[in-house]
Amino acid sequence: MTFFPFCQKMLYKAKGLLLWPMDFSQTIIQWYNGNKRDLPWRNTTDPYVIWLSEIILQQTRVDQGMPYFYRFAEKYPTVSHFAAASEDEVLSLWQGLGYYSRGRNMLKTARLVQQQYKGVFPHKYSDLISLKGIGEYTAAAISSFAANEAQAVVDGNVNRVLARYFGIDEPINSNKGKKQFQQIANDLLDRQYPGMHNQAIMEFGALQCKPKNPACNICPLRETCFAYSNNLVKSLPVKLKKNSIKNRYFNYFLIADGENVLLNKRGDTDIWANMYDLPLIETPTQVTPAQLFPSGQTTTLFQTALALLKAYPVKKHILTHQHIYISFYQVSVSRDELKLQPTWFFTTPDDLKALALPKPILMFLAAFIGQ
Ligand code: ADE
Repeated sequence: MTFFPFCQKMLYKAKGLLLWPMDFSQTIIQWYNGNKRDLPWRNTTDPYVIWLSEIILQQTRVDQGMPYFYRFAEKYPTVSHFAAASEDEVLSLWQGLGYYSRGRNMLKTARLVQQQYKGVFPHKYSDLISLKGIGEYTAAAISSFAANEAQAVVDGNVNRVLARYFGIDEPINSNKGKKQFQQIANDLLDRQYPGMHNQAIMEFGALQCKPKNPACNICPLRETCFAYSNNLVKSLPVKLKKNSIKNRYFNYFLIADGENVLLNKRGDTDIWANMYDLPLIETPTQVTPAQLFPSGQTTTLFQTALALLKAYPVKKHILTHQHIYISFYQVSVSRDELKLQPTWFFTTPDDLKALALPKPILMFLAAFIGQ
């Protein structure tokens, strides 16, 4: 991939063709002051609170992330409170956001800060970046928002604004692209107001220079925007497709006796690590009820005779790199015969509320219990 027709770096420095970096920054900061959303994490310089918001917002949109932010900030007002939490508790608060390793890593980071910094969350980029669990984006966001350190953020919103404005067709997720976008973001950064500049360019990407239907007709940068002038808004930014989707087939067995449900605690190496689901048989392909219950209505999976009560339709659950095809089978078993595996236990619907369950399992059980 190359730059569009001419060298971009020259281009954005060439006064007259595009805005000077300083003017670019002034324009978006002015736009920001007139258009920004009033978001709770913008009214603080506490690096811990900013960290909370940034990790949640890496996972979900602002409107969906807001209740999670309040929940975490209320339950754990300081990083020391967070560090003292149990993993079950954190995962249960995180429930519904998906990608649970992020929730788990938050706890690890909180504990590390508690240990290494005696519970005082760092605000310097060099300290933040050395913490396992905090990458370049998060370190730049926290240090610039909390302490006005001159570190440029680059996230999806920033990439889009830069790719369109400067006409860059290098894929944003190639190594070369990542370096290029970071370099341009650094060059543009307002050295006097880095925190506000960073907030402004991200907000500009989120509200104005949106992925679909950007508001070019009212854009303060449109006169000098390369993509707008060259009808390339729809084709920028460019992103390489990573084709590594894996299909998996989960067959879950619901064993419930009117008061209790049999749950399984998952291990810590696969998806949904350390969360709770149901006894599971994973198969390499989709299997039918007749294949799972070959002798009429019973099967001897888990060294126990299970009698089929109900087979539910297959549900597809989409994760970033995996498509999970989930089948639920309600079965009956005599308690005496049931050979409990070490990770299995019975729980009541009430106790279940305190446990972190993957969304599809939670939804299935909620519908079943609500019947
Ligand atoms: N997305 C990621 N970080 C954000 C922030 N600080 N404000 C708004 N949206 C964001």
